[in-house]
Amino acid sequence: MEFDALFEDITTLVSKGFPEATAYFDQNRAAYDFQDPTPNEPPRGVDLSACIPLTNDLTRPLVTQIAHLSDRLNWQQTYSQADGFSRDFLNNYAWLNVISPDGMFVSETARVTIGYWGQGLQYPEHSHAPEEIYCILAGSAVFHSEGHPPRLARAGEMIHHTPHQKHALDMTPGPLLALIPWRGDGLVVKSNLK
Ligand SMILES: [Fe+2]
Repeated sequence: MEFDALFEDITTLVSKGFPEATAYFDQNRAAYDFQDPTPNEPPRGVDLSACIPLTNDLTRPLVTQIAHLSDRLNWQQTYSQADGFSRDFLNNYAWLNVISPDGMFVSETARVTIGYWGQGLQYPEHSHAPEEIYCILAGSAVFHSEGHPPRLARAGEMIHHTPHQKHALDMTPGPLLALIPWRGDGLVVKSNLK
């Protein structure tokens, strides 16, 4: 099953490239029930094929798999113009849950999201109760994480946020494609914007 291949690409990648992330979710596929995703295409600015050359050797297999499966995945957005996000932002951003209380792979204790933000977008400061790690799959962004100097992070690098730690992202040069494991309470609660 093709989504099992996606799961396997994720577990292979985190064990080799992002070992801190292995503690966020069970690596055993058999531990999860599976819910078929309702296909929902991302907005037109979300160009996953263009991410493939922006990977490294470890992240390339997963990014290739995501691009291949893209039109069968349930791409979503948390934010809208009502939250103050521009049309440009909303045309160039999307995410999907691989593991979460809502599937595809069902877990009440972990969430693993894949998120894309296009070149030049500014993701304003926000925070959330779950702890998270941005595992960068392709591209780069400057992370503004409360208590730390700004940091340009690239494919293969990780940025950790503690519960409620404020953070903002500047997709310069971008774009950014990241695998984001979360753990803790409030896994599907919308982030707090400033
Ligand atoms: Fe976050």
